[in-house]
Amino acid sequence: MFTHIPTRRHILAGLTAAALPPVTAGAAHADAGPSLKALAAEKGILFGSALSAGTMEAAYLDILKTECGVIVPENEFKVYVIAAQADRYNFAPGDAIAGFARDNGMKLRGHTLLWNKVEFMPKWLLNIDFGRKPALGAERYLRDYIKRVCTHYGDQVFSWDVVNETIDPKTGEIRDTPFTKALGFDCIRIAFEAAREYAPRAQLVYNDYMSWEAGNETHRKGVQKLLEMLRNKNVPIDGFGIQSHIGNDGHIKEAQHSEWRAFVDAAVDMKYRLLITEFDVNDKDLPTDIAARDAGVAAAAKDYLDLMFSYKELDQFLCWGMTDNHSWLQGWTPRADKTPQRPTPYGADYRPKPLREAIAAALRAAPKR
Ligand code: G3I
Repeated sequence: MFTHIPTRRHILAGLTAAALPPVTAGAAHADAGPSLKALAAEKGILFGSALSAGTMEAAYLDILKTECGVIVPENEFKVYVIAAQADRYNFAPGDAIAGFARDNGMKLRGHTLLWNKVEFMPKWLLNIDFGRKPALGAERYLRDYIKRVCTHYGDQVFSWDVVNETIDPKTGEIRDTPFTKALGFDCIRIAFEAAREYAPRAQLVYNDYMSWEAGNETHRKGVQKLLEMLRNKNVPIDGFGIQSHIGNDGHIKEAQHSEWRAFVDAAVDMKYRLLITEFDVNDKDLPTDIAARDAGVAAAAKDYLDLMFSYKELDQFLCWGMTDNHSWLQGWTPRADKTPQRPTPYGADYRPKPLREAIAAALRAAPKR
């Protein structure tokens, strides 16, 4: 899986890619048979996508309306948007996405109440003074923030990524942030308890990006340890979100396959529901040739999804964007040949690609839950 800290160049590249108009507008989904949400629903899976406020143009929204039963705001529920300024809450961007979901009868996931990673906290929050009793001050702030966000969206958000990416992949430990400095592990407990209190009917999820790939062992171990701690300490949590930003080397090799299975099995044994929360396939190591690339991406996806759908505990599957031109990967991990990445089910021309067919095939092959 690929996770990088964006540089200004990456962000600008991403914005430029996102701003490009599609070659031909209008979804060609009609040729493609049943929608992905219908295929998924037949198996008891809820299918959907991330959507960001900057990409709400009609042709793109048409694809989401046709294919998706659930939407998650890509960035608009993050603290750096909602609380960009210390003394003012800004729900307008998130409300635009929530309104689109509501108007089109789609469910809404929430991402995320505590992204416990300093790179994605507003500057003022990094320098916050929690007072003479920092543990008390930090708890007060966290509970109040979660209360405000959860009560603003109420029952519309049926599932929350309460805590996102709190494990440092290099150490397997909880990351250093203003909250962990003041509260240690308790900030994670407090976040889930506050979410249960203020979103009492929502599913509560821990979300992270560890994968099966070599080099991920420490990350997996750390996440597994966290999931165990949450259970041992009776923290209110229901689900484990496996982001699934997979790579194109993604044919899961035998050894990695069994290690990954053991990792997912452990979560299932601890009675976590499973979600794929942010699926896409990074093609940066595949050749420039589009047919070869699309075939590689589709094959990696089918391998991975067949494995994941074999878990009946997995009942939500969301892509991190539905068309290549709106994928975060364009800006964050550009290809060496400078051609746009092709990581999502639809091309920049808004036509379905082999990846869409691979997803449909994996859904058709999935056991019912
Ligand atoms: O919209 C602002 C713009 O107003 C501002 O001028 C510009 C310059 O800083 O930034 C723009 O916001 C950017 C935003 O994407 C919209 O394009 C942010 O800087 C940029 O950091 C942000 O990147 C997002 C990233 O999370 C960080 O929040 C990506 O879109 C989003 O896809 C990515 O999503 C994450 C999940 O939340 C967690 N899992 C990994 C996943 C991929 O990294």
